[in-house]
Amino acid sequence: MAATIVIFGASGDLTGRKLIPALYQLFRKGRLSSPLNIVGVSRTKFSHDEWRTELATSTEKFAGDSFDQEKWAQFAERIYYQPGDIGQAEDFAALAKFVDEIEGGESGTRIYYLSTAPRFYLPAVEHLGQAGMACETNGPRRVVIEKPFGRDLKSAKELNKAVHEVFAEHQVYRIDHYLGKETVQNLLVLRFGNTIFEPIWNRNYIDHVQITVAEEVEVGSRAGYYDSAGVVRDMVQNHLLQLLMVTAMEAPVRYEADAIRNEKVKVLHAIRPLDAEQVRTDTFRGQYRGYTASEGVKPTSRTPTFAALKLGIDNWRWQGVPFYLRSGKAMSCRTTQIVIQFYAPPQKLFVDTPTGLGEANRLVIQVQPAEGIQLHFQTKVPDAGMRMRQTDLNFNYQKEFRGVMPEAYERLLLDALEGDASLFARADEVEAAWKICDPILEAWEAKDKPTLFMYDPGFWGPEECLDWMTAQGRQWFDTCPLLG
Ligand code: BG6
Repeated sequence: MAATIVIFGASGDLTGRKLIPALYQLFRKGRLSSPLNIVGVSRTKFSHDEWRTELATSTEKFAGDSFDQEKWAQFAERIYYQPGDIGQAEDFAALAKFVDEIEGGESGTRIYYLSTAPRFYLPAVEHLGQAGMACETNGPRRVVIEKPFGRDLKSAKELNKAVHEVFAEHQVYRIDHYLGKETVQNLLVLRFGNTIFEPIWNRNYIDHVQITVAEEVEVGSRAGYYDSAGVVRDMVQNHLLQLLMVTAMEAPVRYEADAIRNEKVKVLHAIRPLDAEQVRTDTFRGQYRGYTASEGVKPTSRTPTFAALKLGIDNWRWQGVPFYLRSGKAMSCRTTQIVIQFYAPPQKLFVDTPTGLGEANRLVIQVQPAEGIQLHFQTKVPDAGMRMRQTDLNFNYQKEFRGVMPEAYERLLLDALEGDASLFARADEVEAAWKICDPILEAWEAKDKPTLFMYDPGFWGPEECLDWMTAQGRQWFDTCPLLG
């Protein structure tokens, strides 16, 4: 019994760069439990062979050394191309017929992957419904929807409603590729597969949490999209809030999609929404110098490429512990890290040591690219009285496991094929995330919007944001991880 994945937006960047290389890796590693048909759909006219050749080139580029001609040839035998326009209902009738033919009338799992511009999500779902392609009598039918899922709460609700007219929630897989990262899943293991962290993972021991997703790259070729989205829609509403949820959630009753998502959503519900005044005092927006000169960006654009926010979680575990979230383009280096900053000891016993932040313990979860975990703690410097120095216990994925880290899309595509939605966002989850971002976006887009601070590329965002942290008696953990 074969499975089929239909990729809408087949000629797009994501398909060639991530989806096909990930499916190829799953095939190469023998992870697919049944043969897999891949059907690409887009308006470009390709023959099956032309598309296969195109994909061979991009997969070789992204798979690097693991690309094997022979394996690829076997994998590519089941790759097909069907030209079609998402806006045309009749093209879906032709697509349904084509997919039925290659499946030979057998039942099996079918995935519809929407890797298109967001404006095509609605027509794609509607036309899949009209063509009878959502009906599960011949096997599971699932739709994978890329981010951004809406532009705000209202549009996300409308999209959920329209999707639910065709697909039941158990058929809908809203993707956030951060959840497919090994290190993000490992955060669940760190917290709930060990006993030593949970007892101190709360307001009694933790001063604050910092979540940074810094990118060194500028907006590049995606400027057109980015300029209408900005950093909150592009990164905060999804990736940063996902990292926050996994850091702050309670243990799920079992490792199962709804049990996990129930706990994650509870965190979002407990986040104190910011009012207009708090948006002024507790958020920061910035833009890197030179952004407006990028092709596709309006020269007068005020779109933020950097955001920092302070959020509070109103529950027993986290009351009074600020969560600082920060993300930006054109920053010092590429690094995604979660810093758990513990309190300093109540008494400064070893007076030789300068006081300050360095004395408190800190757990740093390096999500990427130097995947690992460091626990910082004080050590006595030998032969130096009672002087202390910060040292760390260091777990490094490369050293420990040697192999190459799998791409996030491998795990997510496999889970979608196998019907495991644990690492996908539920309808209420995306809506709750927008509920947190909407007041920020509204205030940032209002007439009397807060200042847009400028920063130089290659810096940790606007200097004012560093001062803002210092004024709260804290410091950003600004360290580029050592690679290699
Ligand atoms: C995407 C954003 O979702 O994530 C991009 O749209 C961003 O702007 C990218 O560059 C970052 O992903 P990663 O996996 O490289 O951290």
